[in-house]
Amino acid sequence: MIAAKLLVLATAAHALQAPKVARPRANALHASTDLESLRFLSNDDARQVAKDYGTPTYVYDAATLRARAEEALAFPNAYGLTVRYAMKACPNGAVLKLFDSMGLNFDASSAHEVRRAMRAGVPASKCSLSTQQLDADAITLMRDEGLEINCCSLSQLDTIGTALPGTKVGMRFNPGLGSGGTAKTNVGGASSSFGIWHEQFDEVVALAKKHDLEVVRVHTHIGSGSDAEVWKRVSSMSLDLCERLGDSVKTLNLGGGYKVGRMAYETSTDLQEVGAPVTDNFKDYAKRTGVELKLEVEPGTFLVANAGALVSTVQDACTTSGKDAGNDFLKLDAGMTDVLRPSLYGSQHPLVVVPSDAAKDADAATAEYVVVGHCCESGDLLTPAPDEPETLAPRLLKKAERGDLLIVESVGAYCSAMSTAGYNSFPTAPEVMKSTKGAFVEIRKRSSLDQLLQNEVSVDAAAL
Ligand code: LLP
Repeated sequence: MIAAKLLVLATAAHALQAPKVARPRANALHASTDLESLRFLSNDDARQVAKDYGTPTYVYDAATLRARAEEALAFPNAYGLTVRYAMKACPNGAVLKLFDSMGLNFDASSAHEVRRAMRAGVPASKCSLSTQQLDADAITLMRDEGLEINCCSLSQLDTIGTALPGTKVGMRFNPGLGSGGTAKTNVGGASSSFGIWHEQFDEVVALAKKHDLEVVRVHTHIGSGSDAEVWKRVSSMSLDLCERLGDSVKTLNLGGGYKVGRMAYETSTDLQEVGAPVTDNFKDYAKRTGVELKLEVEPGTFLVANAGALVSTVQDACTTSGKDAGNDFLKLDAGMTDVLRPSLYGSQHPLVVVPSDAAKDADAATAEYVVVGHCCESGDLLTPAPDEPETLAPRLLKKAERGDLLIVESVGAYCSAMSTAGYNSFPTAPEVMKSTKGAFVEIRKRSSLDQLLQNEVSVDAAAL
């Protein structure tokens, strides 16, 4: 009797915690209910990748990377431009080498990232570091290798001034205003710890004076997936900070954060459009102050997001039913281990079914699926409702069977880089680059169990 009661209570509690289901489906909330399509792979390409490298495998497209880099290099500017690739978005050495060969510089978020760029042949002097954690190695890299730095806190400024008095530094400010695609990617305003709060300006000046530092650069980055209007407003606020610091400031770095449409119904930032008023502001600034400021931008997402696809396999399927909450699930051999953004932010990534049998490519049948990853987490979900990682949003896809491929599109930014590698002891997926000639070039191998365990120290249970 007690056991039965407990069961009822447990079931009720569980029901309260069960994930919500968004109906009508997420697509229907938007203008288009069309199926998403592949960006740079053909169905045959996807099958070839699966055959040659197994699944899951990330594929990057050199032609798209080059095209986005050209667009970024054409960012409107009045007196010169440096484009820095925010390498945290996708730090594979092949991507760094490609961008380096095109004349891009780099934004690093830790001294480790600078060292990683150096391993790919990028000199530290082409990197600027904006970091939440200033390691001693950053000072070494500044002193010996010409690394540029944007001080992101008063204590960083003091530490650098103490170690390298008289040096040139940049200052990252939190301008008091931010904008991101989600609250988790907004890094400006009072709820953000990134950069020096703008009202602490006098302390910046005092510390710079104390250590005889030359402030040559102002830096602001207010979030990823920023609203273009907010970004433009912040660019004006940043110019005010330059003016208050005086004519030692030669460069204004306006960060990255340009919004990229991954789904067909989402739109991307037009760099020409957001950049044009900024150019006018730089010209006015020059008239007012006599200083012709150089512009830096540091996009990550813009350069790589739509240049990556994950080829995975539908390795299982199941159906649940209930009064109002039955679902058809597809289970991938990939998941939050490879593409965490949907589970973390409720991000939307196009999902495209590619039949294992090419003869079925033209089949028109569709179905609504909840697509889940392979981890033992109900949060390992590829089809959340937009911005609601805990709500299931069944997605209309081409009808799929076990063994078919499912391509998760637009995974070039913050997917391989933010992998929850090793969870459930799944291997880390390999990375492959589609060259401009159409050949597939392996740029990272699949990891092995030996690699996962290589730092684990074998101990005898009796010793514990
Ligand atoms: N500059 C700084 C100082 C940054 O912190 C970032 C990104 C960027 C540039 C490049 O921002 P982007 O152009 O990629 O938006 N994991 C999130 C994004 C976190 C970005 C962190 N900082 C995502 O998956 O959207």
